[in-house]
Order: sequence, then structure tokens, then C-alpha cells
Amino acid sequence: MKEVSILDKRFSEFISEESIEQRITQLAEQINSEMDGREVIFLGILNGAFLFAASLFRQIKIDALISFVKLASYEGTGTTGRIKELIGWNEDLKGKTVIVIEDIVDTGGTVERVVDELKMRKAADIRIAALLFKPDAYKRNITIDYVGFNIPDNFVVGYGLDYNGHGRNLPSIYTLVNS
Ligand code: IMP
Repeated sequence: MKEVSILDKRFSEFISEESIEQRITQLAEQINSEMDGREVIFLGILNGAFLFAASLFRQIKIDALISFVKLASYEGTGTTGRIKELIGWNEDLKGKTVIVIEDIVDTGGTVERVVDELKMRKAADIRIAALLFKPDAYKRNITIDYVGFNIPDNFVVGYGLDYNGHGRNLPSIYTLVNS
């Protein structure tokens, strides 16, 4: 089993790069067929979603735009409960179909915050795509429309996800080894 050390913690490989890319291709195909004929704005949530957004978006064949907003809710390996301000809203979203791209949906606080903001901006149809979803940690009612992988409620890094800013460049997803 492949293991890596990041700062003071050890992580072991959990989802391979190949499995991630295969799953993203399937999600892109599903979006291409479900959204056929529509103009869609993809909205990536920085920093964590940048790799997932890039891989997904380059496989999108319909007429599509992409934009990014930034916020942060996490420090270290535990949620702080604080959600910082959202910055970078440049697009006119009124009446538009928006697909939010998240790296991971954990408690759902981030997604809820983004969806509230999209409703205020009068987006007509809001969908959520998340590479990873932790159903056991999820505390909201918003449907996650496109899920890459359902995972247990353990801390993960890689493929854009970080531990205190580190590990985003790992090509696969790694899970925390409890020692
Ligand atoms: P939520 O608001 O609780 O759903 O958390 C969403 C955000 O927390 C994600 O966009 C990530 O940035 C971060 N996050 C949640 N779980 C993890 C994890 O296991 N590893 C790294 N970041 C995480």
C-alpha cells in the first residue's frame, strides 16, 4: 500500500489516479447528455476543486462557461465551523443553469452557503457536482447531483484536497492513517 507523510501525519493511497479519471469521464458524459441543448455555467469552488474542475470541464462538450469563487471553511483536519467570505463573483447568473464544482462535500455548509448566494443571484437551475461526498458527515438537505465517490467520514488529501495547504499535488486520493 502506497503511503505518504505530510507534515506530522501519514496517509495511505485510497483512490487511484486512474479510478478518479475514469469516474470523472463518466460524470462528464452524464452532464453532457443531461444538459444537452443548454448553456451551462460551471462554478468551481477554490482552492480544492481546481483539479477536478479542470479534468471535468475539458470533457464537457456542450456550450459551457466556467468561473471560480473562493472561500475557506477548514483549518487542519477538523472543521472550524467558520465559513469565510465568498469572493470572485464576476458572472451574471440570472436565469442561468449553474453547476457548482466542489472537491468534497463534508457537512454541506459550504455547498449550502454557495447555493444561498446563487439563489440570491437568481440562478434558474442549480446543480452540485462533488468529486467526493461523505454521507455520514452530511447535515444538509441539498441534493448532490453528481457524486464522484461516496467515502467514509475520514480526512483525505490529494487531487486538489489539502492538509494545511499541503498535498494538493498528489495525483491520487490518500486517507489519514490513524496511529
Ligand atoms: P463542508 O462545508 O463541511 O461540506 O466542507 C467542505 C470543504 O471542507 C471542502 O471544500 C474542503 O475544502 C474541506 N474539506 C472537507 N473534508 C475534507 C477532507 O477530508 N480533506 C480536505 N479538505 C476537506
